[in-house]
Amino acid sequence: MKKMLTGLQPTGIITLGNYIGSIKQMVENQGKYESYIFVADMHAITVNDDKRNLKENTRSLVALYLACGIDPKLNTIFVQSQNEYHANLGYFLECNSYFGELSRMHQFKEKSKKSESFTVGLLTYPVLMAADILLYDADIVPVGIDQKQHVELARDIAIRFNKRYGDTFVVPNPEIKSEGTKIADLLDPTIKMSKSNENQNGVIRLLDEPEVIRKKIMRATTDSEMLVKYDPENKPGISNLLNIYISITGKTMEEAEKEFDGCNYGTFKTKVADVVVEKISEIQKKYYEYLNSDELDKILADGREKSREIAKKKYELVKEKIGFYN
Ligand code: AMP
Ligand code: TRP
Repeated sequence: MKKMLTGLQPTGIITLGNYIGSIKQMVENQGKYESYIFVADMHAITVNDDKRNLKENTRSLVALYLACGIDPKLNTIFVQSQNEYHANLGYFLECNSYFGELSRMHQFKEKSKKSESFTVGLLTYPVLMAADILLYDADIVPVGIDQKQHVELARDIAIRFNKRYGDTFVVPNPEIKSEGTKIADLLDPTIKMSKSNENQNGVIRLLDEPEVIRKKIMRATTDSEMLVKYDPENKPGISNLLNIYISITGKTMEEAEKEFDGCNYGTFKTKVADVVVEKISEIQKKYYEYLNSDELDKILADGREKSREIAKKKYELVKEKIGFYN
């Protein structure tokens, strides 16, 4: 069975876009791969942020994934900082990476420009990410487009190491999610719904109060026609709401268009809000159950054991290949 691994930063905010474009697919694909999902909390400290709340955000992220249907029996779920082999292998990989290639990474260039000084961790971030991936022999690494270059670097490092020291690592492939539906901002449907959008009134967060979610949908930008029809170019607002509707209900676009034929926008939005609020309320109910239970801590403790066992083997092999005294 192929191995799949992905990491998520504990930012504390998950949007409806993340759910429809990423988490839902992960849930639907469960069981197809040997799967590793981890909280990339060590990646979260590469930039300074006083409001980081690592502990709370880590538990919250895991609770939310579990609430969305990620099954701990089908996925090994763990926290990066609880597994020392990530940083340890990261160092060995740093000694097989070049300053030039790291300083050319898009994300590094963009983030290092934002302040006068930046940490070395921001520069070596993609090498730690390579260690995350290579420790588990991951074949498939699903990421957003912004992380593609980092997965390609992990490939380069794996190939380079294998050449230098003999076969050690599986060469991973980035899997860029393009088949998933893109969800747009509710107020400006020409941009994607994102936790970093300036006006969060166009962004539905999975932990928003249900009434807030309803209000955001009722205020979504539409157009001056009175026609519920899928036409992303000319009717981006309506098309986005239709996308949200069919993603949550599992209906086809034709079915949805038929259902709302002759409907005014107020009625249409109410119906979209109903299904979104129902779905998110379900998720939130489970979220709070997980958040307040020991089960979550038990799942992470199991994940810690399992991931350390696998990572240790690879780490020892790497040491042997490099030729350390043992
Ligand atoms: P991000 O929150 O940007 O790091 O994205 C995490 C994952 O969620 C990536 O796989 C994205 O492709 C997906 N994602 C984020 N925002 C959206 C959106 N508005 N529509 C669809 N997918 C999204
Ligand atoms: N850097 C990724 C992000 O910011 C998170 C991440 C860390 C990751 N390690 C990973 C993703 C390994 C995939 C595989 O989204």
